[in-house]
Amino acid sequence: MDANHTVGRRKPQQAIGTVLATRGISADLRTRAWYRTRFRGETVTDLSGFSAKHVLLGVTGGIAAYKACELARAMMRAGADVQVVMTPSATAFVGPMTFQALTGRPVRIELLDPSAEAGMGHIELARWADLVVIAPCTAHTLATLALGQADDLLTTLWLATRAQRCVAPAMNQQMWSDPSVTSHVERLIARGVHVLGPDSGQQACGDIGPGRLLEVTELMPRLAALLAQGPLSGRHLVITAGPTHEPIDPVRFLSNQASGKMGYALASAAAAFGARVTLVSGPTALSCPRGVTRIDVVTACEMDNACQTLLSGSQVDCFIGAAAVSDMRPATVAQEKLKKGKDDLSTLTLVENPDVIWGVSHHANRPSLVVGFAAETQALLAHAAEKRERKGLDWICANDVSDGQVFGQDTNCLHCLTAAGQVTLGPGTKSEIARQLLTNIATHFSIVKDTTCN
Ligand code: CTP
Repeated sequence: MDANHTVGRRKPQQAIGTVLATRGISADLRTRAWYRTRFRGETVTDLSGFSAKHVLLGVTGGIAAYKACELARAMMRAGADVQVVMTPSATAFVGPMTFQALTGRPVRIELLDPSAEAGMGHIELARWADLVVIAPCTAHTLATLALGQADDLLTTLWLATRAQRCVAPAMNQQMWSDPSVTSHVERLIARGVHVLGPDSGQQACGDIGPGRLLEVTELMPRLAALLAQGPLSGRHLVITAGPTHEPIDPVRFLSNQASGKMGYALASAAAAFGARVTLVSGPTALSCPRGVTRIDVVTACEMDNACQTLLSGSQVDCFIGAAAVSDMRPATVAQEKLKKGKDDLSTLTLVENPDVIWGVSHHANRPSLVVGFAAETQALLAHAAEKRERKGLDWICANDVSDGQVFGQDTNCLHCLTAAGQVTLGPGTKSEIARQLLTNIATHFSIVKDTTCN
């Protein structure tokens, strides 16, 4: 029991409704609304591919560099993390401070910058990116890329990354038509680089013809489509996380030690894998991961209602029950704070809470993969195996919580039991383990898809 916290209790419908209205539909719809206002008349396309993605935006020295500001802003609003890297000549057109203000990250310019390297080194930055896009890309940078030269930070990152790479060329129409530029572009396309544009029309120099940077409204859907190609794109995952609070009176509740970190790490990794993610979260101090729709609940009953509503209302491919749901709740909740001497504080009558994951695995619209967690202090694997059977789960991830391990920590080790056997994930950070589990889930779905196709 925790007498120091007020239970911020809401009715289930209110909780879900409020969240959907304020932040549940969150990044994607807010971006679409902004997109619609900003580019009135344009078709609003799916920008969800940007959710929780890391985009490295290269800006080179051309007049179209000013449009890269709008592109950075649009990608941020669509849920991406954007790191801008400028060539020194690009800074003659737009100040790095502008990009820093738009993205919240200092702009990287120099290859040999000791202070920047002390933070995220250039190789680390190359690995960080899910997508590298150079917009605008000048004729000079196109040539440098085609030749595989690495004479500044941007072209070095280009060679060092394993991410998808694209360029949006922008130059004078006569330059664009030059055979040397054509051969550089062909060479890059042959290496798998996506070349977006250029557009045709009136140019800053007064010429008319091909060479204009594609409009942001054109670039955004194309970049989103490239990013959406994650291993779980098209899948809907529902994940529960955190503890539940079961109120006794307005200031006291029953709960447990869960921090929600594992569930949040799973939600974040699933979004990064391209899935649509709904996180049903008990009270935690954590902020909602990028690209994730969060439904806030307080009690086990609210969590159960939220999950049942989700299953009835939408197709859910995978459910992960990472929440530490309270098994019992007080039979009655006092309207006023209970007082010593006046009220009987020595006994508390408890009733059983619904088993959220049992309800999911026995739902008419059951997800094809239901994954539970088993936090145990003894006989880890035996208890977990029994729980998998009893709750009708496909997989169960057992973790040892004896000696205060796991709760509130950043590291974990899971033993994932399936009908076929057992896989150990970790030890490692909860983020690393989340990615490992999501990789197994993605593999499971790719096998299911292959089998269906045959
Ligand atoms: N779970 C749930 N609803 C509950 C209790 C548990 O959905 N009311 C889920 C958890 O999210 C987890 C799994 O069931 O995925 C196992 O949770 P755990 O607390 O280990 O199991 P219990 O059923 O509570 O069993 P016990 O307390 O006896 O260990």
